[in-house]
Amino acid sequence: MKKNDPILKKVALLMPEKVLDVGCGCGSFTAQLSPHCRKITAIEFSPGLIQRCKNENQKPNITYLCMDGRNLGFPDNSFDLVLERTTLHHIFEWEKALDEMIRVSAKYILIQEPLDDPRSEAKRNTIRAQNLYLEIQKEVGYPHYRYIPEESLMGYFRKENIKIKSQVIRSDKPKEFDEYFSNFGDFAERSRRKKYWLERLDNLRKELEGKKLCEEDSIFIIGVK
Ligand SMILES: C[S@@+](CC[C@H](N)C(=O)[O-])C[C@H]1O[C@@H](n2cnc3c(N)ncnc32)[C@H](O)[C@@H]1O
Repeated sequence: MKKNDPILKKVALLMPEKVLDVGCGCGSFTAQLSPHCRKITAIEFSPGLIQRCKNENQKPNITYLCMDGRNLGFPDNSFDLVLERTTLHHIFEWEKALDEMIRVSAKYILIQEPLDDPRSEAKRNTIRAQNLYLEIQKEVGYPHYRYIPEESLMGYFRKENIKIKSQVIRSDKPKEFDEYFSNFGDFAERSRRKKYWLERLDNLRKELEGKKLCEEDSIFIIGVK
């Protein structure tokens, strides 16, 4: 984990009492937040991942629950701080999840989401590569969508009248093609057209002629109710 992760830094500064982490995945990031909060509730849509959280990242002050971020089973203002890290673009109706995050937060809402920016050839190649992932993931029913444009996120908070501070974190760090596609084979296995998808991957590799991809930018937003 990067020590300069903006959510981790902000949580360490605020030392909140009660935190909600929406879409905690396997819980590895939640576990890193745990020394900086009194109590964390972490929710995740996938029952398999919640089991992994409990097996691999259980801490005395974390409660892991299987729940849909679009329908949080908590009363209004239940947490001092509600956060999500790279979860919203996995939710088809991401606005519903954000509505719920704001409803259950008494004060802070922290968001970190990846962003597309076609400013360089490596960035444009990465967007093409991401589109291939999105195609195969759609076929196998894995929820993952185009990154939410910065303006859509900003517009959402403006409409809700929530004050925000935001920061775009740019990265042009190169990534090898095979590193980027390290999970592609798992999705191909899950599909009924393994050969087709491996051919698509091979065609893209040839088209990009060994050119590198790169890391994504991200946006960090602090909302205050
Ligand atoms: C990229 S992972 C983020 C993991 C974690 N936040 C981190 O920073 O390591 C996105 C997670 O969102 C979860 N997810 C997708 N839809 C969801 C929903 N409707 N409610 C809650 N979690 C959801 C996925 O199962 C996945 O584990």
